[in-house]
Amino acid sequence: MADHHILLLGPPGAGKGTQAKELCETYDLDHVSTGDALRANKDMETEYGTPRSFMEAGELVPDEVVNEVLAAALEDADGYVLDGYPRNLDQVEYLDDATELDYVFFLDVDRDVLVERLTGRRVDPETGENYHVEFDMPEDEEVRERLVQRDDDEEDVVRERLEVYEENTEPVIEHYRETGELVEIDGEGTPEDVFERLTDAIDG
Ligand code: AP5
Ligand code: MG
Repeated sequence: MADHHILLLGPPGAGKGTQAKELCETYDLDHVSTGDALRANKDMETEYGTPRSFMEAGELVPDEVVNEVLAAALEDADGYVLDGYPRNLDQVEYLDDATELDYVFFLDVDRDVLVERLTGRRVDPETGENYHVEFDMPEDEEVRERLVQRDDDEEDVVRERLEVYEENTEPVIEHYRETGELVEIDGEGTPEDVFERLTDAIDG
């Protein structure tokens, strides 16, 4: 099977992480998520401060830090699903020099749905698995009891993240629309519905 290079774009809560996981299993790809990588290194000291200080405020982590994280992750991956990068036009340029993309998908989801998905998300700190209080809770009571909320999923930070997205990342979507690479995928409905739309676009 060819090693796909897939980019998943979309606002916070669009389902990038959820879909990336399934795509990676189906097509045997690596999940490259700058958000996950930064969360795993939240207290790393950089000349700009720690990633935590930016993430907990819903702001972007400085490009210099994120670009390094991205380069390290891509180096280890053959086929990949990239999620959470690029988030501004400078990052688009950096990515352009670093790799070639086969698919650029944009998961399109209404703003009200995003807020509901994000504020209801819960994470299993032991496995990193994402759940949702309303749409997707684990059967195992032990797992249910240890779920936590991501620091940046509180409603005021969610609103800030959506604003940062509109200002910095919507121009990225526009860029890939102009190059003709952007494939828009309806991101509403069940995760299975969305996954089927993605695989239809890949397998034809
Ligand atoms: P990051 O971790 O990338 O967060 P994000 O882009 O805000 O996206 P999310 O992870 O919140 O949403 P998602 O689309 O993955 O949705 P999910 O599948 O989980 O970034 C976090 C922070 O890191 C940034 O704010 C920034 O500070 C920093 N950062 C990261 N990358 C950076 C970069 N390149 N440059 C600078 N800074 C960077 O789904 C959400 C919820 O909805 C879940 O609970 C899920 O169960 C549920 N759900 C999913 N799909 C469905 C469905 N179809 N129906 C019902 N529920 C669903
Ligand atoms: Mg995510």
